[in-house]
Amino acid sequence: MTTATAALAGTTAVHTVEVELGARRYPIHIGPGLLDDGPRLAALAPGRHVLIVSDTNVAPHYLARVEAAFAAAETGKRVAAHVLPPGEQEKTLARFGELMSVLARLGAHRDATLVALGGGVVGDLTGFAAACWMRGVRFVQLPTTLLAMVDSSVGGKTAVDLPEGKNLVGAFHQPAAVVADTATLATLPDRELRAGLAEVLKYGALGDAAFFDWVEANAAALRARDAGALVHAIARCCTMKAGIVARDETESGERMLLNLGHTFGHAIEAEQGFGGLVHGEAVAVGMVLAARLSSRLGLAPASDGERLAAVLQTLGLPTALPAGLEADALLARMRLDKKNASGRFRLVLWHGIGRAFVATGIDEAALRAVLVP
Ligand code: NAD
Ligand code: GLY
Repeated sequence: MTTATAALAGTTAVHTVEVELGARRYPIHIGPGLLDDGPRLAALAPGRHVLIVSDTNVAPHYLARVEAAFAAAETGKRVAAHVLPPGEQEKTLARFGELMSVLARLGAHRDATLVALGGGVVGDLTGFAAACWMRGVRFVQLPTTLLAMVDSSVGGKTAVDLPEGKNLVGAFHQPAAVVADTATLATLPDRELRAGLAEVLKYGALGDAAFFDWVEANAAALRARDAGALVHAIARCCTMKAGIVARDETESGERMLLNLGHTFGHAIEAEQGFGGLVHGEAVAVGMVLAARLSSRLGLAPASDGERLAAVLQTLGLPTALPAGLEADALLARMRLDKKNASGRFRLVLWHGIGRAFVATGIDEAALRAVLVP
C-alpha cells in the first residue's frame, strides 16, 4: 500500500449529498471503496446492457474492479467496456461517434446504462453519448479525479469540444447517480490533483468566504492527500453545486457563477489546442484574470485578487497567462463563449472573496488590458 493509499483509506464513512431537481433527484455518494459495491452499482443500472467507458490511464487501475463488482451482483446483465485514449484532445465528435457505434454493436437499447469511469473528459463524453443514444438513456458517473468529484460529475452538463472551442456541442443530461470512490485519488498524478484543487478553491471564491479560508488553511493537507481534508472538500463542493444546480439547472442565472475563471480558461485551453494547461490549471489562471479585471473596473479590492493568487500558488497552480498567447486571439475565443448575450461579453466577476456575480456588457478595452501579460 502506498502512503497515499494508506492516507486515503483512513476515512471510511460514506457521505451522501442529494441533488434535487423538482420531482427528480439523485444521490452523490462520497467515500473510499465504493467501486467494489456491486449491489449498489447493479441497482443503478436496471436494464439489460451496461457500457463502461474509461480511459487507458484509469482502466488498468479500476476497470476490472468495476466489472467484478457487477459480476458479483449476479444480475445476468451484459456488461461491456470501451477504453479510450486519455486527455482533453479526445473529447471530440469523433470519439462520440465511436461510442455510438460501440452501443450499436452491443445491441444496446433504451434500457441501457452508460457508466463513466474516469475524469471529466470521460464523464462529459460518456454523458453526451448517454444523452444522445436512442434520444437518451441512463448514465452513472464514477469520477476518479478530484476535479470530476467536485464539479464535472455533478449537474448534468455533458459535451464535446470542437477545434473552434470548448464544450460547444453538448446537452444537459443528469446522471442517475454519482459514486465517488475517494480511494481512487491515490493513483491520480500530482498535477491532476492540483488541477482539482483549483476547482475546489473556486467554490470558496465564488460564494463561500469561510470555505475559502478553510482551503487556505488546509492547503498542505489537501496537497498531501489527507483523506479527511479531501472528503470534507469534496462534500462541501458537492453540497454547494447541488444547491446551485437545483435552483438553476440549465444555467439561466446563478449557475453561471460556477464558471468563475472559465471564460478565460476555456479560451486558453482552445488557443493551446487542448494540449497545454489542463482544465483546472487554465481555470486557476482564469480566476486570477477575472479578479484582476474586477479590480481594474473598480468592482473589487485588488488585495482579494492578490490573496486568491497566493493561495493558488500555495496549491501549486499557475496564476499567469502562458507565454505566447495573443490577447486578440484569446478575445476572439471569448466571443464564442456560451454565456455571452446579444453579442456582448458576459463574464463572472467578483466583488471580492466569496462574492462572485455575472457582469454583462464588459468594456472590451478593460478586458484586453488584463490579457496582455
Ligand atoms: P481528465 O478526465 O483528462 O483526467 C485527468 C487525467 O488523469 C487523465 O490523464 C486521466 O486519464 C487521468 N486519471 C483520471 N483519474 C485517474 C486516477 N484515479 N488515477 C490515475 N490517473 C487518472 O481531466 P479532469 O480534470 O478530470 O476533467 C477535465 C474535463 O472536465 C474538461 O474537459 C472540462 O471541460 C470538464 N469539466 C466539465 C464540467 C461539467 O460540469 N460537466 C465541469 C468542470 C470540468
Ligand atoms: N462547471 C460548471 C457547471 O457545472 O455549471
